[in-house]
Amino acid sequence: MKTHRIALYPGDGIGPEVTDAAVAVLRAVESRLGGFRLEFTRFDWGAGYHAQHGHVAPSDFLDTLRPFHAVFLGAVGWPATLPDSVTLKPLIQMRQTFDLWACVRPARTFAGIARPLVSGHEIDLVVIRENSEGEYVDQGGRFRPGQPEEFAVQSAIHTRRGIARALRFGFELARKRRRKLTLATKSNAQRFAFTLWDEILDELAAANRDIAVDRQHIDALAMNFVRRPESFDVVVASNLFGDILTDFSGAVTGGLGLNPSANLNPERTSPSLFEPVHGSAPDIAGRGVSNPTGAILSAAMMLDWLGEAPAARAIEHAIEAAFGQGHRTPDLGGTLNTVAFTERVIADLT
Ligand code: NAD
Ligand code: IPM
Ligand code: MN
Repeated sequence: MKTHRIALYPGDGIGPEVTDAAVAVLRAVESRLGGFRLEFTRFDWGAGYHAQHGHVAPSDFLDTLRPFHAVFLGAVGWPATLPDSVTLKPLIQMRQTFDLWACVRPARTFAGIARPLVSGHEIDLVVIRENSEGEYVDQGGRFRPGQPEEFAVQSAIHTRRGIARALRFGFELARKRRRKLTLATKSNAQRFAFTLWDEILDELAAANRDIAVDRQHIDALAMNFVRRPESFDVVVASNLFGDILTDFSGAVTGGLGLNPSANLNPERTSPSLFEPVHGSAPDIAGRGVSNPTGAILSAAMMLDWLGEAPAARAIEHAIEAAFGQGHRTPDLGGTLNTVAFTERVIADLT
């Protein structure tokens, strides 16, 4: 029987409780469906680890993670005690060192879950976020600190290879869905980086004529995520634009607690990383009331990636069934805590 070895990085704030929820659902699906085994190894890195050891993760943490088949992360960040630039660094290092260049962030509405938009249309879109370069490369510096003439330089790097592979991934995904691809651009103001994105889109569009292609400047695109989110199928975005758009896509589908993500290394030369889109939510941490849906659906994406598609579908159906029966955490207007909602999902696994 196939054994999938998973590294758990629960992290900070609500990270551990949504990770526990995802693991409980994974264990249940493992025993109910059979056919595969899951072996978990937990690493309690983050702000608490920093308090004891002086760093958020051991210096060789990437080597520790490399042999695993996948990494599952809850959420990182505890700004009350540590700057985010410290706590979040391992997450960005994993994405860049493991070359997890395709960040797949689906956002959909669920029957019975209220959405904030008056139009009330069904939404089913996927943002493909370039995840290895762009605005997240650590290039730049702070100069003349504390002086009146202090300045900061923060460079972005957009490579032909990085852009083309993100767009190609988007075209392939669009072909399996509704055959629409939208590029988030800003070539009207960012005259170097996003004219390159636009040109590569044109080149690839010519070779993928079965896909309807559209490009929107990020400001208009953000507006259209609110005005007509149902019109989007696959959206390809640079690292930062994709980050911003996916908090938006979470909010318009009913709440950030709903949305999963997969940080993929499509060449499978290193472990891919699965995590909800949301953060560590310090405002509700420690109360056990967070919505574990994004984490549980990220676990489903992980099973899909590991070749266990029936188990992934079973989890998705169980979430739909739990919502269909009216089970809700407080962020969705319900009264169930994280553990109680997770138990309802597990009860609906078939
Ligand atoms: P956040 O996503 O943690 O929270 C934003 C809002 O959404 C909060 O009101 C929160 O209560 C709510 N929310 C988020 N997830 C929820 C859930 N599962 N259930 C119910 N409500 C939920 O964003 P933030 O407050 O801007 O950031 C908090 C910390 O998390 C910061 O340190 C930030 O840098 C970090 N962060 C980490 C990740 C990650 O680990 N991938 C992602 C985003 C932010
Ligand atoms: C996300 C988060 C991260 C990002 C932070 C925690 C560095 O917001 O995964 O969406 O900006 O990529
Ligand atoms: Mn984000």
